[in-house]
Amino acid sequence: MTTQDRMIDLASADDATAHDGGDEPAPVLTVQDLRVTFSRGGRTIRAVNGLNYQLRAGRTLAIIGESGSGKSVSVRALMGLLPPSAFVSGSARLGQTELVGLNEKAMRAIRGDEIAMVFQDPARSLNPTMNVGQQITEAIGMHQRLDKKAAADRAVELMKLVRLPAAERRFEEYPHQLSGGMRQRVMIAIALASDPKVLIADEATTALDVTTQAQIMELLADLQDRLGTSVIMISHDLGLAACYADEVLVMYGGKAVEQAPAATLFSHVRMPYTKALLGSIPQLTTPSHGLLSVIGGQPPDLASLPQGCAFRPRCPNASDQCLTEPALTEHEPGHRYACWHPVGAAGAGGSADGDRARVEEVS
Ligand SMILES: Nc1ncnc2c1ncn2[C@@H]1O[C@H](COP(=O)(O)OP(=O)(O)OP(=O)(O)O)[C@@H](O)[C@H]1O
Ligand code: SF4
Ligand SMILES: [Mg+2]
Repeated sequence: MTTQDRMIDLASADDATAHDGGDEPAPVLTVQDLRVTFSRGGRTIRAVNGLNYQLRAGRTLAIIGESGSGKSVSVRALMGLLPPSAFVSGSARLGQTELVGLNEKAMRAIRGDEIAMVFQDPARSLNPTMNVGQQITEAIGMHQRLDKKAAADRAVELMKLVRLPAAERRFEEYPHQLSGGMRQRVMIAIALASDPKVLIADEATTALDVTTQAQIMELLADLQDRLGTSVIMISHDLGLAACYADEVLVMYGGKAVEQAPAATLFSHVRMPYTKALLGSIPQLTTPSHGLLSVIGGQPPDLASLPQGCAFRPRCPNASDQCLTEPALTEHEPGHRYACWHPVGAAGAGGSADGDRARVEEVS
């Protein structure tokens, strides 16, 4: 299925199919009230502030939000990859295992076998002094007892699985000899070496050009279909989430502010913040020399959140009521949002088409 087919699929999906809970696969990961704080210079930074979600088998959850909204910290907390200055509380259950508070030895085993992560910058994640075949072989060796030849054969198999052209020849090449897209394929092969239940892709395609980005996302979707892996995809790009995610969680100021199946969310955006994020995606219909919308104002200081709704200082729908923080509530079946005046909802402070996020125009 191409990216375009995926968008068409999504546009034609109706709500009934989008949040039909009848045949939902079982949750693989259940996150409840996850919180992460950092203490720095006498300030408490609330990077993640009470996150709840379920990741179901074989599904993709997209966590979306502006820079600094807590996306990476929230998944690093699951993997025990935060510095000692981080304080993590709440719960994250992977199958029967509670990840929050797990000791480092047990966490290392989970990290190796059950959850794997692909980062934004493959150039920095790969070892420049070792050929890529060896790096994949080494990752395999950490999870399976195979002799040298069998591990190398498996590495070539994984290289083919991630569609690295001329895999046998590439085995001997070093990271600097590969393009950015190929390096990211190597990182995905390393991540898949353990056959993980959950694959976390943290801005895995952000550094790539648009064509390569689409190829890598297609690869991840294809691998997911074939291997049944559950994926958490982190991005600031709602367009990618629209194409590839089953569920979307929008973060602002360390919290989930809108959460729904992708088809529901994109057909009925409710949070003014989500709407503003969508407005900042260039459209094919935007004139080529037109003005690009960006969200006006600054993301909140996580050590000093504004009173009430954290989006209030930037929100076109804000009223005095927004000085009281709205709870994330399931207002419509399967659709949760935290807003007093949602976009397009009956009785909202703004109207579906009339309310516009405050935008700055940049040429
Ligand atoms: N080691 C740290 N010490 C103190 N604060 C930190 C640390 N790491 C992250 N933070 C805080 O947590 C906030 C959220 O960071 P995070 O990396 O999760 O953002 P993000 O949503 O992934 O942003 P981006 O899209 O830029 O990757 C940051 O704004 C920062 O204030
Ligand atoms: S309308 Fe109020 S509650 Fe809703 S996003 Fe704007 S400021 Fe927040
Ligand atoms: Mg990040």
